Amino acid sequence: MSHGEAYAVVKGRVPREEEKVLLYQNARNALTAMLEGETESVLVMSSIVAVLHQSMPHYFWSGFYRVIENSLLVGPYQGTPACLRIRHGKGVCGTAWAEKRTVVVADVHAFPGHIACDARSASEIVVPWRNRKGEVIAVLDIDSDQKEAFDAIDEQWLEHLAASFPLL
Ligand code: SME
Repeated sequence: MSHGEAYAVVKGRVPREEEKVLLYQNARNALTAMLEGETESVLVMSSIVAVLHQSMPHYFWSGFYRVIENSLLVGPYQGTPACLRIRHGKGVCGTAWAEKRTVVVADVHAFPGHIACDARSASEIVVPWRNRKGEVIAVLDIDSDQKEAFDAIDEQWLEHLAASFPLL
């Protein structure tokens, strides 16, 4: 099945396990081909966000928050206008950064301290992104407008992408 066919099949709902795997494989292959030999950070981050956001039908908002002067600053991203700055330890993004681990939230309205940038966000996953020295210098934040959209497959694949495409 081509990527377009796979996407069309699942548009409008959360993909099933085997569909998610296929969609992530296609996204990874596209990124590997696109980013061969590229290291410039904005180029790498915007390509990752664009490919993932266009590939995954359960994504509503997709973007990086970069660690700058002890806050997270938004961008590059795809989706509705978002909160610009997030402090250390605040919200889901600030928690993933502070604890240097992926955070999956099945229902954002049940997460204490969740920062609501768009009321349509219902579930989310945030993955720390490192540089080549292993320092967390950004997080990738993905929101869905459907509850319980993210599971261990999203976690594994996004962590795989983080390891495959470190930032400078
Ligand atoms: N949900 C995030 C805030 C960022 S927006 O969803 C784009 C959080 O609580 O960290």
